Amino acid sequence: MADYQDMPQEKSLDHTIALLKEGYEFIYHRKDKYDSRVFKTRILGEVTNCMIGKKEAQLFYDNNRFSRKDAAPSRIQKTLFGQNGVQGLDGAKHHHRKAMFMSVMTRELLDEVKELTELEWDRAITRHQEEEFIVYEEAKRVLTSVAMRWVSIPAQEAENEWVNELSDLFEDASAIGPKHWKARMSRSKAEDWLEQLVLDIRSGKKQVDQNRPLYQFSTHRDLSGQLLEPAIVAVELLNLLRPIVAISVYVAFTVIAVEQFPQEVEHLRQKDDKRLQYFIQEVRRFYPFFPFTVARVKEDFEWNGFMFEKGTLTLLDLYGTNHDPDNWEQPDHFRPGRFEKWEGSPFDFIPQGGGEFDIGHRCAGEWMTIDILKVTLDFFVNRISYEVPNQDFTYSMNEIPSLPESKVKIKNIRKK
Ligand code: HEM
Repeated sequence: MADYQDMPQEKSLDHTIALLKEGYEFIYHRKDKYDSRVFKTRILGEVTNCMIGKKEAQLFYDNNRFSRKDAAPSRIQKTLFGQNGVQGLDGAKHHHRKAMFMSVMTRELLDEVKELTELEWDRAITRHQEEEFIVYEEAKRVLTSVAMRWVSIPAQEAENEWVNELSDLFEDASAIGPKHWKARMSRSKAEDWLEQLVLDIRSGKKQVDQNRPLYQFSTHRDLSGQLLEPAIVAVELLNLLRPIVAISVYVAFTVIAVEQFPQEVEHLRQKDDKRLQYFIQEVRRFYPFFPFTVARVKEDFEWNGFMFEKGTLTLLDLYGTNHDPDNWEQPDHFRPGRFEKWEGSPFDFIPQGGGEFDIGHRCAGEWMTIDILKVTLDFFVNRISYEVPNQDFTYSMNEIPSLPESKVKIKNIRKK
């Protein structure tokens, strides 16, 4: 007889409704209920393993144990990720495609993102001098301009349309009904337009900066030396454009943190890069964004006495791992200083996934996210002054992505 125990398993037939209701806290709640960091549930009729914690993240990111093929639900692929992109690849194919992403994350290109971010915020404030705006909405406009310029998409007359289309892809990714269809239409419009651009670049009809992602991705060759299908290049370009705009969610939470934790803001006035970094890390740890990530068990294996069966869908709790009291003292307190002592494990602080960048699925844009947020934080704390009218800063724990109710209104904005 095999020497393993059954994983704790939820009793009733299906837990999709509970997942929708409990959102970010679904796995976290059950970790206590079952006194186990690994348990089985049933989502959309499918038996699903759930895991939370540092050791569990280490297991999840073991490429010999888990694979990504056919892991993401098809409705999420049709909105958030796109089809046949890097997220669903495994092994050598994934490694090669991921290298294409990491090749544009050089210090030089990341510095350009920082410069563009500062420039676009400066322009936005000039437009709204002494007025008021909704930080989340303005951040989407600012970051769409940053994304388009950095990727080297030729100047658009209809940049406003791009703001809406790129936002639809992450704001309504998990929606059902009309919002889901709107997100799918936005994806297909953006993909069509990008595919044509790739063809024009390949034929020499359009010339763009050869160091930038648009050209690099359009001319990238796969492991067999072939150019990627234009449809796949379009999906991968959207894997840059969409999440850059999605950083607006963190921008909104950053401005809330500045308002709600003034004692922490004092440290930011000396323009000390480390302090900006700690504050942004704590924003990414504290506030909800991606609830979990998903893979499938590659082959049967036993771990810590539990049996993992080949093909089983498996969720790793990202939000819950960032709030795990075993690794984070007083996890529900906002304390940037905790990052002074953080050892930098790739498995306990995983807002954008864990493990390694090159051979794993950790977010390709994590360094860029931190850079954009640091520039934005410095801008709001040290470069402008503003007032914050009374408003509702609460956010839901079951809407994904979660956004503060008011989307953060500020007024009487002035450059210092
Ligand atoms: C808004 C902030 C962001 C959040 C919360 C976020 C979160 C994530 C998460 C959770 C994953 C999946 C990790 C996994 O499955 O193990 C991921 C993957 C990815 N992210 Fe991000 N991300 C953000 C920003 C960005 C940016 C700015 C870019 C690019 C410019 C980017 C590009 C990617 C790519 C290409 C992948 C797929 C990596 C792979 O499958 O190997 N992300 N991100």
